Amino acid sequence: MGILIKNGEIITASDRFVADVYCEEGRISAVAPGLEKQRADDTVIDASGQIILPGGVDAHVHMELPFMGTESSDDFETGTAAGVAGGTTTIIDFVIPSRGQHLLDGYAMWMEKAKKSVSDYAFHMAVTWFSDRTLTEMETCVRDHGITSFKTFMAYRGAIGIEDPELIQVMEKSATLGSLVTVHAEHGDAVVALQKKFLREGKTEPKYHAMSRPAPVEGEATARAIMLARMMGNPVYIVHVTCKEAVDAIVEARTRGQVVMAETCPQYLLLDDSVYEKPDFEGAAYVMSPPIRPKGHQDALWAAVAAGHIQTVATDHCPFNQVGQKDMGKDNFARIPNGAAGIENRLGLLWTAGVVEGRFDVHKFVDLFATQPAKIFGLYPRKGAVVPGADADIVVFDPHATDVISAKTHHHRCDRSIFEGFQVKGKPSHVIVNGRVQFKEGKLDVQRGAGRYLPRQIHTFPKPVQS
Ligand code: URP
Ligand code: ZN
Ligand code: ZN
Ligand code: ZN
Repeated sequence: MGILIKNGEIITASDRFVADVYCEEGRISAVAPGLEKQRADDTVIDASGQIILPGGVDAHVHMELPFMGTESSDDFETGTAAGVAGGTTTIIDFVIPSRGQHLLDGYAMWMEKAKKSVSDYAFHMAVTWFSDRTLTEMETCVRDHGITSFKTFMAYRGAIGIEDPELIQVMEKSATLGSLVTVHAEHGDAVVALQKKFLREGKTEPKYHAMSRPAPVEGEATARAIMLARMMGNPVYIVHVTCKEAVDAIVEARTRGQVVMAETCPQYLLLDDSVYEKPDFEGAAYVMSPPIRPKGHQDALWAAVAAGHIQTVATDHCPFNQVGQKDMGKDNFARIPNGAAGIENRLGLLWTAGVVEGRFDVHKFVDLFATQPAKIFGLYPRKGAVVPGADADIVVFDPHATDVISAKTHHHRCDRSIFEGFQVKGKPSHVIVNGRVQFKEGKLDVQRGAGRYLPRQIHTFPKPVQS
């Protein structure tokens, strides 16, 4: 049986037009006005007055990630289901091998965990340490498993972070493979020094997490990652950009013609560091790295998004419950597991703050939400597009509906929402995943294990204008 979506307004990264969409066997087979049912048992969705968007692609999530002595609280099933409720139908998670674990062993472990996903998934591969196998295993990742991007952490010293000589090796190898290096940019040693200093002074509350990782720590590392990529001849993608200092480094490089791409997240666009002042350890819910920034940085991020210097908005979805997880750091901010939930909220927040509040147009929205992440990470046009031949991952979006975000009603498996009380305008009425309606009028109808692993293509980036 197929699905016929009638009379919706299709919005893409470049166009908008009213047409019908027909889906069969998991694919979009036609986009045109006046389409008819093909079979008696076809599902028909009347999308009059609604908008048709490609399913969202969240290029930065961590489901059931072993981290800081615990594990992120959404598994691949609950996390992808929350994504579907929020119009995200594809995730790119990170294989993060522990020290001593080889890349391909990490890959096998993540493939096993991800089997229960309800929607499609892909992986970036993190290089967290070096063995004599690392470089050949990077090759296997790209050639045999379609993992065409690598992740490096300049922070998290002594855990998953690497040193500059190792980052350089990843870049050098990646340049020969045509893959993309992505970087978590914070000066690892500066963070450790500041953490020690505050703890010595008896400053243990959540707000010192933010104060131990101030904006210059991110700005310096961003500039250094960009310089190293320039020297080694790589394109580079900076994850979760939060501050003006990092934006400045990115804009400087892009203006020179270097191929630098950047991502930010709704929490960095919409929250400021006053969240760390909440009483009763509630600030811990906002402990993530990099941290939420003081007022002013958000404007720099919005401007960079509008100008195209930041191309994607992901979530860095990495939830931890306040009770039983965040409270591990009750007496020491450095032990609070870093991360928060967000995959379900990206659509509503970005539409509301971006389109409704007039910061950018609908096409930019689609680009940030689905099309650019699909392109940059080698999933386009299978994902990120409403065109014949693409996977039938579609959001029927009601721009008139309203919602209030709350941990009481969200689908994240997490006891807090960092967006508690945020009012959003617009929400999905139907979300189609792989040709099946999996969310309808507020209710999920997902299938554990229905998601498929997505090997990715190598995306060819333009040559730098000047190196
Ligand atoms: O605090 C965060 N961001 N947790 C997830 C790991 C990372 O650095 O992305
Ligand atoms: Zn990170
Ligand atoms: Zn992350
Ligand atoms: Zn409506």
